[in-house]
Amino acid sequence: MSKSFDVAVIGAGPGGYVAAIRCAQLGLNTVCIDEWENSKGKISLGGTCLNVGCIPSKALLESSENYFRAIHKFPAHGIKAEGISVDVPLMIARKDKIVTTFTSGIAALFRKNKVTSMHGKGTILKREKNEKTWQIEISNKKAAEKIQSKYVIIATGSTPRQLSFAPIDNEKILDNVGALALTEIPERLGVIGAGVIGLEMGSVWRRFGAEVSILEAMPEFLMAADEQVAKEAYKIFRKEPGLSIQTNIKIKSVKHNKKNVVVEYSDSSSELQKLEVNKLIVAVGRVPNTAGLGSEVIDLKIDDRGCIVVDEFCRTNLTNIYAVGDVVRGPMLAHKASEEGVAVAETILGIESGSNVTHKVDFNVIPWVIYTSPEIAWVGKTEQELKAAGTPYKAGQFPFIANGRARALGETAGFVKVLADEATDRILGVHMIGPYVSELISEAVVAMEFAASSEDIARIIHAHPSLSEVLHEAALNADGRALHI
Ligand code: FAD
Ligand code: NAI
Repeated sequence: MSKSFDVAVIGAGPGGYVAAIRCAQLGLNTVCIDEWENSKGKISLGGTCLNVGCIPSKALLESSENYFRAIHKFPAHGIKAEGISVDVPLMIARKDKIVTTFTSGIAALFRKNKVTSMHGKGTILKREKNEKTWQIEISNKKAAEKIQSKYVIIATGSTPRQLSFAPIDNEKILDNVGALALTEIPERLGVIGAGVIGLEMGSVWRRFGAEVSILEAMPEFLMAADEQVAKEAYKIFRKEPGLSIQTNIKIKSVKHNKKNVVVEYSDSSSELQKLEVNKLIVAVGRVPNTAGLGSEVIDLKIDDRGCIVVDEFCRTNLTNIYAVGDVVRGPMLAHKASEEGVAVAETILGIESGSNVTHKVDFNVIPWVIYTSPEIAWVGKTEQELKAAGTPYKAGQFPFIANGRARALGETAGFVKVLADEATDRILGVHMIGPYVSELISEAVVAMEFAASSEDIARIIHAHPSLSEVLHEAALNADGRALHI
């Protein structure tokens, strides 16, 4: 007799493991299945985010920022630091330790919450119309086992989009996995795609002195961001020594030998351009991962971009099967995946308890952060979206250069912009580029979640001197009454 569960979660990334913990907290007998394994062949929970995404990339960004500060920013403080060097394998080992601390931490959370963890690929099997449960086969190198479950939550995440002319070998041509595991600083690094990964990974290796060239197909830069923020970022990044960003290019070929990678591309000039680098990162987006899930056999509906089709409650076309995170529509962000996981767990409890209370995630208040230097963060609508929708709005802006804390930090680039409804003053969007805006954006998210007006933020007392005063002043300025400019 196969093991039986209330809920089977396939995938233990931030969507899946959070869904599993919440289901278990709500009293549902839950199993979480994942195939990811570490170099020792053991299960490694946490998905892309913990293993090869958010956490390791931020660990390296911090190391590189420290190195960069010591060399380029300490002198302005009168601090002399000579003979600074970086031990790249040690830095990578630090990053790996942070990853294993967190991946084993999830295993501990599973034990604490009584979530059953199973290691292997989960494939949903076809069922007859009268069957009440779903059967899932879990197969790994050692064995295959079948379990049954009333509900299934698919949280199988995404994988890097490949370019046929630049196959990833993680030696010369790297995806995020290879980019996070370099053992030495490349002298010259190429990046295809000036998106989030390209900019973050490019930043890491540039700060260590690599000559970084980013090639972007689109004429514009950071299309999802507010245009003014994207323009400011472009202006700042273009001035960075050792960093070149070219937009509006078309890659013609990528060839490599043992030593170098040669990229041929066209730009606005009539001549074919050539870029020769030691390593090339390909970061041209990610695609939903449904490989081996059994989606064709069970007739799971998938759209033409490869996303599992779900409604606002993450319900698929199949009874009691839900899907969350990168494998469905919406931004590919860890916190969005986790919130969908929680919402689905609570929706399932609603059905089981007979209350039928459903939960959904409000996409309008999902914050975005890009961990470049300066950082970029936003929530809500961009100015171009408001214009396109014909929404009358007012804007208040304030620069970091006029803020005492930013001056003390020596990080004065950028600004905060608050967009509020012209008639009601309700905040519609907040856009930031500057120091630690990854942390500052939370105040804006809370404000929007509580339907605050720009006047609400303007009336709140902000500590002095703090970076949060920039948001305060921007909110004041939505009413034309900033105090310090
Ligand atoms: P994933 O994290 O991809 O997890 C899916 C899991 O499912 C994997 O563990 C996989 O092994 C498993 N799986 C797949 N198919 C099966 C199967 N059939 N059977 C069993 N297991 C299966 N987002 C942020 O919000 N902030 C950041 O700073 C950030 N930085 C990033 C940096 C990089 C370099 C990358 C690549 C991504 C980053 N992201 C960031 C995006 C973030 O990692 C994803 O949005 C997030 O991991 C999605 O979570 P998920 O649970 O949907 O999927
Ligand atoms: P992306 O969608 O952010 O950017 C990809 C870029 O590549 C785009 O600008 C696109 O125009 C460009 N591109 C596509 N094809 C190209 C080609 N042939 N030649 C040149 N340029 C081309 O995707 P990315 O950077 O791979 O990241 C994937 C996702 O991971 C992000 O969208 C984000 O959701 C998530 N992520 C989030 C982070 C964060 O929250 N800080 C950090 C890293 C990733």
